[in-house]
Amino acid sequence: MRVSMIGAGYVGLVASACFADFGYRVTCIDKDARRIAALNGGELPIYEPGLHDMIAANLREGRLEFTGDTASIAESDVVFLTVGTPSRGGDGDADLSYIFEAVRTIAPLLSDTAVVATKSTVPVGTGDEIARRIREARPAAAIAVVANPEFMREGAAVYDFKHPDRILIGSDDARAQAILAEVYRPFYLDAAPIVHVSRRTAELIKYAANAFLATKIGFINEIADLCECVGADVQDVAHGLGLDHRIGGQFLHPGPGFGGSCLPKDALALIKAGRDHGRQLRIIEAVAAANDARKRAMAEKVVAALDGSVRGKTVAVLGLSFKPNTDDTRESPAIPLIGALQELGAEVRAYDPAGMEQMKLLLPSLIYCGSAYAAAESAAALVIATEWEQFRALDLDRLKSIMARPVVVDLRNIYRVEEMRRAGFRYVAIGREGVA
Ligand code: UDX
Repeated sequence: MRVSMIGAGYVGLVASACFADFGYRVTCIDKDARRIAALNGGELPIYEPGLHDMIAANLREGRLEFTGDTASIAESDVVFLTVGTPSRGGDGDADLSYIFEAVRTIAPLLSDTAVVATKSTVPVGTGDEIARRIREARPAAAIAVVANPEFMREGAAVYDFKHPDRILIGSDDARAQAILAEVYRPFYLDAAPIVHVSRRTAELIKYAANAFLATKIGFINEIADLCECVGADVQDVAHGLGLDHRIGGQFLHPGPGFGGSCLPKDALALIKAGRDHGRQLRIIEAVAAANDARKRAMAEKVVAALDGSVRGKTVAVLGLSFKPNTDDTRESPAIPLIGALQELGAEVRAYDPAGMEQMKLLLPSLIYCGSAYAAAESAAALVIATEWEQFRALDLDRLKSIMARPVVVDLRNIYRVEEMRRAGFRYVAIGREGVA
């Protein structure tokens, strides 16, 4: 099986590495020459656990190559589109210019029987437009266009790619269905169910899945707020809820609001798709609005924990990436949190195991520290914004001795209220009995 991947971003790199790991010859093509040179030199543009070694091994074995050259396309059974589809800004619509540029590039080069499979998250009907453009460029060829969305999470992308809950193959073309099923055959040993649906259905499932996950998070966050008012513990509520099989326990972890490159962007794109068809998607609209408001409101928790003002005080923020095990800071709740704290007159010191370089581009005025303890030095409050494992068992005595005041605002609920109280901290968490 010969596979080409157009786009060496998150999805393209993980998919390339995993397919190569299963023994396919994979060519990952990107027009960014610097990125390609870096990749061939063993340097990854992203931090993703396990990916570096997997790419190095497959480069060494000659199963994987990174190039700007499009020669492999003519020999590929399947060409995956893994370019970005960011928000176009303003109306939330997905920007499809990278997709159509990739289509323009590959259309004249594809073999007559190639399968083009779109892994990028694209609005419903994009596959039809890709097919139309390819037909126009290659009227005599039998090239099939399949929607094959990806469900991997950053930080667990390699595992998710190799152990998918389901593999969606969106196509009505029997030949394309068979080829993609063959591509995913090695995954089948894990009994991953392959789901055959129409192209438009596959495109919508991807958006619906992300919108549903966002809704679960938004829901538990709102319940957490209520818990704080009525004296209930949201961790127990989530547990009690999640044991109901119809609900399920995942994505019920309360926090500072969802971020990342997918959930916020895909919610907006789905809302826009609804509007385009005269349908108001009220639930996801509410989820998106509540999430934005929540992220902005997190600074108020810090203000309250410091008796109403952060002016002239030092606040330490642990965690800048939108979640652990990634250096990705896109839509990270830490951004509005830090922005608001600075506006309110606080001096913010921060530490993140992987996300500091990215954050420096966005927030150059922040004081970046070399460790959690360095950030906590002389701080009036310590805020846990991302639940990195190394923040889960901090030396509380040491923290207390170096901080100006023993105040911890835990936006990820990674400590126990009792434990913090025993250690002498004023401990504010999300949706739990808070101020000690
Ligand atoms: C998401 C989807 O999970 C994945 O299937 C899709 O392919 C891409 O988008 P990702 O953005 O990598 O993946 O991260 P995810 O683990 O879903 O977390 C998204 C955000 O929600 C993070 O900010 C995270 O902290 C937050 N979150 C997640 C919660 O606040 N509570 C939860 O219970 C789960």
